[in-house]
Amino acid sequence: MIELERLLRSQGFGSRADCRALVRGGRVSIAGQACDDPFARFDEEGLRISVDGAEWVFRRFAYLALNKPAGYECSRRPVHHPSVYSLIPDPLRTRGVQAVGRLDEDATGLLLLTDDGQFIHRYTSPKKAVPKVYDVTTRHVVDRGQVAALLDGVQLHDDPQPVVALDCVPLGERCVRLTVTQGRYHLVKRMLAAAGNRVEALHRVSIGGFSLPPALPVGHWMWLGEAEIALLAGSCQRAMSPPDVLRSSRAPASAGRLVDESEP
Ligand code: URA
Repeated sequence: MIELERLLRSQGFGSRADCRALVRGGRVSIAGQACDDPFARFDEEGLRISVDGAEWVFRRFAYLALNKPAGYECSRRPVHHPSVYSLIPDPLRTRGVQAVGRLDEDATGLLLLTDDGQFIHRYTSPKKAVPKVYDVTTRHVVDRGQVAALLDGVQLHDDPQPVVALDCVPLGERCVRLTVTQGRYHLVKRMLAAAGNRVEALHRVSIGGFSLPPALPVGHWMWLGEAEIALLAGSCQRAMSPPDVLRSSRAPASAGRLVDESEP
C-alpha cells in the first residue's frame, strides 16, 4: 500500500508538492473514482490511475519501444536536432526513462527505453552479446567479398580485434540485413566502411527476439509487456546458444568495451 501522493510521484507526475496539488485540485481518479486525498493509500500493483482524464496503469518500471524517426538525437540535451525524449509523454521523462543504447540521429527503427537500470545493463552489456539486427542500405552494390569480410571480421581503426557480424543476408543489390552483438560508436557504419562500402540508411529491425512491430507508426512508442520482455530475455539465451557461439567464434571477441551505439 502506498499513499497517492507518493504513488503519483513514482510514476513521474512531478514532485510530491506537484502531486499533492494535482490530487487536491480534483484532477486524479483511481480505478474510476475521483480521489482528492493525497494521503489515501492504495495497493499500487496494476492500479488504474487517471490524471486529467488520461489513463495510466501503475508500473514499477516503464519499458517502452519507440519507432525512432530520422532526424532525432538520442540525447536529453540534443545539439542539432530534436530529442527522442520529445516523443514520449512528460511523466515518462520525469521518472527518468532513458534510451537502452543509442541510435545515430539519421538512423531509424527500434529503440528501447526504460527507467530500470538492471534492464539497461542487461541489454547493453557486451558480455550479454544480445543480437541487434539492422537493415542497411548502402551507396555501392554489396558484393560477395564484402559479405564475406563482414562475416569473417573487419578491422576498425580503434580496435586491434576484427569485428565480426553474426549474420549478413543480402536483401537487394544495395541492402543487407546485418546482425551484430556489440553496441559501439557508429559500429555498423564503420563496419561497412571497413568492408569497402558506405551506409546510406540504417534501420534497426530487432533487438534479441523482439522485432519492431510493423503496426507501430514512425515516431510512436508502445509499452512493452511481459510477452515482449520475455522475447527480449529469450534473446539473451539465444545469443549464447551453440550455433551462435560457433559462428561468432570465427574471430576473437572484442567484448568488454563500449556499450553505446552512437556515443563517442
Ligand atoms: N551502428 C551505427 O553505425 N549507427 C547506429 O545508430 C547504430 C549502429
